[in-house]
Amino acid sequence: MKRIIAAALAAMVMGGAAYADTVKVGVIGPFSGPFALQGKNFKAGIDAYMALNGNKVGDHTVEVIYRDVPQADPAQSKSLAQELVVKEGVQYLAGFYFTPDAMAVTPILKQANVPMVVMNAATSAIVTKSPLVVRTSFTTAQNSAPIAKVAVDRGVKKVITIVSDYGPGVDAETAFKTAMQAAGGEVVESIRLPLSTNDFNPIMQRIKDSGAQGLFAFLPSGPPTLAFVKAYNETGLKAAGIQFFGTGDLTQESDLPALGDAALGILTTFHYAVSHDSPENKAFVAAAQKALGDAKELTFPSVSAFDGMHVIYKMIEATGGKQDAQKAVDAVKGLAWVSPRGPVMIDPDTRHITENIYLREVSKAADGTYYNKEIQTFEKQGDPGLKK
Ligand code: PHB
Repeated sequence: MKRIIAAALAAMVMGGAAYADTVKVGVIGPFSGPFALQGKNFKAGIDAYMALNGNKVGDHTVEVIYRDVPQADPAQSKSLAQELVVKEGVQYLAGFYFTPDAMAVTPILKQANVPMVVMNAATSAIVTKSPLVVRTSFTTAQNSAPIAKVAVDRGVKKVITIVSDYGPGVDAETAFKTAMQAAGGEVVESIRLPLSTNDFNPIMQRIKDSGAQGLFAFLPSGPPTLAFVKAYNETGLKAAGIQFFGTGDLTQESDLPALGDAALGILTTFHYAVSHDSPENKAFVAAAQKALGDAKELTFPSVSAFDGMHVIYKMIEATGGKQDAQKAVDAVKGLAWVSPRGPVMIDPDTRHITENIYLREVSKAADGTYYNKEIQTFEKQGDPGLKK
């Protein structure tokens, strides 16, 4: 009898140890290579959240484990996700900068009993690939639709679209075109570029020749966006008066010092500006900049990572640290809070974030620094690509 009790106790302690002490979160993102700054911002957002909220949920210590996928690479992403689940025993998978990296992992979630919290990847369909996906970032559809009306309202009715030829680019093109037509404007030509494109000079000539009054662009933030905006200026499109409209990916804050006056006046719609004026954002920016070490490096993946950790903490709380992916996801359906970006909610039907989308203009502050100035708010926007 004594031995049976001892064995039962040992099993309880061991079983307890499996979930009660440390809850591991595996984060996949680009931490080296051309997009390393975007991954660094995932980490800064996570560090900021843990600096402001501690590393414990109840009795459970939260531990974050990082894995590097430098460029969109679905096979590498999937194998690292499997390694995180099997070898590291992570209870949550998070991060995912590029859509293909997120898509590749959705098929393993159910069997692994692990929720995925997408902190960037912005193709609408990702959340439909598994009931265990929650997204705290944005979609390109969500950010592209509002700027079409802005263009038409400003008298720019003929627009050419330029997007990267993969999920978020195609979604951006579709959402922009649909909203443009609804507002009485016209897309005169649509260009899709390979994801690897870094030389945009030839495209600028095509834009000039198209007869469009303005351009709309989506490219993934990083070297391509910096090169695109530079080319727009250097090839004379800006001087020729072709108005630039885009998603905020094109004018991320960390690129603005390198762009200088070239970016002034560009209009974008986006869910987050580092300059957003709220007490929540001030606290966030201070903590995230401290984590980065260089304040100028702060850009948007940080805020989705910060809010992603908020969602994961709520999931850990709801499950008492036990591994129950469906219970964890169910617990955050309808969760609402005030993010550094403004009020947000996890839509209970789509598991994607509802948020304000802001119209911003690249502006120069009195001290000579460049920033995205918020000038209009489109409140509580869901994803037009996910409407039921
Ligand atoms: C994506 O691959 O979904 C993606 C990457 C970078 C962005 C936006 C979307 O800036």
